[in-house]
This record gives sequence, C-alpha cells and structure tokens, in this order.
Amino acid sequence: MRFLIIGDVIGRTGRKALKEFLPSLIDQEKPDFIIANGENAAGGFGITKKVFDELISLGIDVITSGNHIWDKKEIVQFIDQEERLLRPANYPPSALGRGYGIYKKKDKKIAVINIMGRVFMGIPLDCPFRTFDEIYERIKDSVDYIIVDLHAEATSEKMAFGYYVDGRADIVFGTHSHVPTADEQILPKGTAYITDVGLTGAVHSVIGMKIEQPIQKFLTGMPIKYDVATGGYLFHGLLVEKDEKKTEIRRIKIKKE
Ligand code: FE2
Repeated sequence: MRFLIIGDVIGRTGRKALKEFLPSLIDQEKPDFIIANGENAAGGFGITKKVFDELISLGIDVITSGNHIWDKKEIVQFIDQEERLLRPANYPPSALGRGYGIYKKKDKKIAVINIMGRVFMGIPLDCPFRTFDEIYERIKDSVDYIIVDLHAEATSEKMAFGYYVDGRADIVFGTHSHVPTADEQILPKGTAYITDVGLTGAVHSVIGMKIEQPIQKFLTGMPIKYDVATGGYLFHGLLVEKDEKKTEIRRIKIKKE
C-alpha cells in the first residue's frame, strides 16, 4: 500500500496548494490512501463542513486534526456524523467526534489514530502513550495497517512516542509545528516515522500566517489577531510505501512562489 500524508493545511492558501499540486501528485505517485491534517484549513483556525467536503473531493480519505478542531462553532453540528474526520483520541470520552477510525481500501483495513501531545500544548488531555496502548489492544487483530497522526509541539515527545509504538504502528507522522523535519526514517522495529510533515500553505509566512502579525505579538506581548498569509504556496507531504517485504519513506516538497 502507498500512503500519502499531507501536513497541516493552512487556510485558503493551503487549499490552493492542494488544488494545484494534489491531482498531478496522485497521477504520478498513485497513492492508495491519503490523509491530511485539516485543523487549520478554514481561515487558519478550525474546519467547516464546506472545507471538509472540499478536501474530501480532492481525493483525501481521512482528515485529522488537533487543538484547533473546535475553533469553528459549526464543528459540533457535523463532527459526530463524519467518520472521515478525526479529533485527538485522548480528549475525554464524552467529547464529541471520534479519535480513530478504521477504513477499507483495496481489501485492506487501515486504522488511522489521531493523538495529541501534552508538552507545551496547554490542554490537559489523557496520556498520549497510554491512549495508543488502549486503542492498539482494541484493534490490533482486526486491521492491516495502523497510522498515527501525533499532533504535538515538542520534538522530544514525538520522538519518544515514535519509539514507544515502534513495531506496533506502521506509520507515525507528526503535525502541529507546521515546520517540516528532515528525520523521516524507518525505526528499528519497522515503523515509518517523521517528527513533523510541515505545512501546506504560504511560502512567506510565520507558520502559515501573515508575517507582520506574529512579529507584532512578539514585540508587544499583546494578543494579536492572525490572518492566513497569501502569495506563493508550498506543499509538504510524506509518501510511505509498505508491504510484507519492504517499507519506504520519502518527503515531498513542492513550491510555487
Ligand atoms: Fe495544532
């Protein structure tokens, strides 16, 4: 199976990059299953039904998320109905939505699990490590592939998690920092791993947002509203091919200035 994973899609600029680059990438690379983190796809914060449908119409199979999943009020109206939209599994059990799903493609059962880190995230969620253990025990005998989007800030937490689940998950990809890391690798027990896939959004931006606004925030210490940056755009993805014999991992970067 060939998996294409797309890092945090940031607002209209990120969606523009998807529309421009994804069709030819699908043609060239022929992925069997596509996952994108869409928690910032609508205006840079959250996701709406319309934007969700737009991403799915481009051929994306599952949309993962993280701390920004609740930012658009309408999410509470549709998250429970939408099996292809995930929120972190370590939210309290009473939270709306689901933290993982099992999807069928090419006669294979693919589990996608969305988990959020706790370091520098400011949200008191359950332990990401034990959350994985619990879900893993529940699903391990009934699925062919297990893929985790670990939405977290700290590189150390993401790497520790990768090694912790090595040999149990097939792919662990990090999101949230919006900056790609160059550490894509196959861990000793076979898990394909990257600390962060990186953003799909504006080239000249501060993690996808207009440059001046974060600078002002840092200069003044005051809360400043952020808007999605426009202009040239960038696509960051990860391609993983895995079957009984081999696992391959490759980063993808496409840019249009
Ligand atoms: Fe995030």
